[in-house]
Amino acid sequence: SARIMIVGEAPGATEDELGKPFVGRSGQLLIRLFGEIGISRDEIYIANVLKCRPPENRDPLPLEIKKCGAFLASQIEFVNPVVIVPVGNFATRYVLQTKEGITKLRGKSFNIGNTIVIPTVHPAFVLRNGKRAEADMLADIQTIKK
Ligand code: URA
Repeated sequence: SARIMIVGEAPGATEDELGKPFVGRSGQLLIRLFGEIGISRDEIYIANVLKCRPPENRDPLPLEIKKCGAFLASQIEFVNPVVIVPVGNFATRYVLQTKEGITKLRGKSFNIGNTIVIPTVHPAFVLRNGKRAEADMLADIQTIKK
C-alpha cells in the first residue's frame, strides 16, 4: 500500500538486471527530488508501463503498451494511491489515456476517480537536459506536496 505511485516507461538495463524499477541513474535522480519534498522511496509504489526492457532501449510498441498496460491497470487498482505521478510521454499517455504530450501536461493535476494524477518529465530527459529541466521537474514534484 502507498499513497504515492510513480509510473515510468519501462525497465532500463540496471532495472532489468536487478528486477526492480528505477534503481539506475534515472531512479536515483527521481528519488533524490522526491527526497527534497520529504518523501522517501519506501513511501512510494513504483511501477512501469512495460514490464520488460525493450531491445536496444527502443520506444515501447502499441501492442506492448496494451499487453503490459493491463498489468499496470491492476497495480493501480490494488494500490489505489492518492496521487499518481507518471513520468514522461508513454506513462502519462497511458495513465491519462490521452495523445497529448508531456510538455503540455507536466505540472498540472488531473482527477481520475478519487486519484490525482500529476505528470512530470522523464528523469532520463532531465539527465540529458541539465539544471533547467531538473528545476522544472522539482517544481512539478512540489505540486504533490500541496
Ligand atoms: N526508466 C523508466 O522509465 N523506468 C525504470 O524503471 C527505469 C528507467
